[in-house]
Amino acid sequence: MEILDLLEIESEVSLPRRYSELSVAEMENRVKEIKTKFGDRLFIPGHHYQKDEVIQFSDARGDSLKLARICSTMADAEYIVFCGVHFMAETADMLTQADKKVILPDLRAGCSMADMADIDQTEAGWAKMQDIWGDTIIPLTYVNSTAAIKGFVGKHGGATVTSSNAKKMLEWAFTQKERILFLPDQHLGRNTSYDLGIPLDQMAIYDPLTKSFDSEGILEHVKVILWKGHCSVHEKFNVKHIDNLRKQDPDFKVLVHPECTFDVVQASDLNGSTSFIINTIKKAPAGSKWAVGTEMNLVNRLAQEHPDKKIISLNPFMCPCLTMNRIDLQHLLWSLEKLEEGEVVNHITVPNEITEYAVLALNRMLERS
Ligand code: 13P
Ligand code: SF4
Repeated sequence: MEILDLLEIESEVSLPRRYSELSVAEMENRVKEIKTKFGDRLFIPGHHYQKDEVIQFSDARGDSLKLARICSTMADAEYIVFCGVHFMAETADMLTQADKKVILPDLRAGCSMADMADIDQTEAGWAKMQDIWGDTIIPLTYVNSTAAIKGFVGKHGGATVTSSNAKKMLEWAFTQKERILFLPDQHLGRNTSYDLGIPLDQMAIYDPLTKSFDSEGILEHVKVILWKGHCSVHEKFNVKHIDNLRKQDPDFKVLVHPECTFDVVQASDLNGSTSFIINTIKKAPAGSKWAVGTEMNLVNRLAQEHPDKKIISLNPFMCPCLTMNRIDLQHLLWSLEKLEEGEVVNHITVPNEITEYAVLALNRMLERS
């Protein structure tokens, strides 16, 4: 979603004033009441980065892979009120039968990384890549991308990946073609490729704004083309944070999400998806100390849920993901009250011509993970 679209949406869907006058208890009671009333007809998936005030009402909590999988098997629900960001709601729409309605409580809940690859840029970049490398490239896209990009990838024989199956999906992709185009997160692409033994000088970055390639090596030897996109939340962690922390207290283990930069991932002790982060901390012994490099809502929740362990954010001045935070109790209640009145607000629908190909890309991933 472009910034202008967001501004337009902002003016269109401002919440009725009465929601700011309700107490938290009143709102929570109403959400519970509506959930009970709808029963199995309503399903609320929630991503780990959602606020506590929202995640407490989720019927399933998970990382992107788990949520995609759950939506693909959802049989009873008529309404899926997605507590996450726009690309997740699009995925839910594409993986469910046509009669199910997916709702995003606040349309401003986009993802800045997903916005870094639009379909026109991708088509233009792909044409350039074909000129240089010919028909030797398979495209992979992180699920943090628009439905149109997933459709592009599906059409060209590729697949989606999440942070929990990226390695497996890159291995598969190399059985299909000689080279990979990885969209839109250069960091997940670089970190995973390096893990698979591909040296940095066999990777190139494609900048969609200048339409140019940047590589430490020669283009002929490139195995992975990384789209120049990133997550503005995870780029806020740097190696200095790790060095300072280790100087202050060497007992801390550093655990980061692979959307962090290459240097940060290399300097950390462990890296993995949000589920990996949660499970690692769950299994850790009491008294262990963890500096976590991911979104703040999740870090704060981990600290609350594990009072026997010391859990801090790797960056002490970290902010939460602003777009994930757009989904708050007020918007959740508003979308549910509208449903109760028989009105579906913020209905997320992906056109059939995109869904047809995007589902190919999603299923290639789901079959292999
Ligand atoms: P996970 O797939 O690890 O849940 O990550 C999703 C995401 O948006 C991370 O920024
Ligand atoms: Fe997008 Fe980053 Fe927020 Fe994840 S944390 S939703 S990648 S902006």
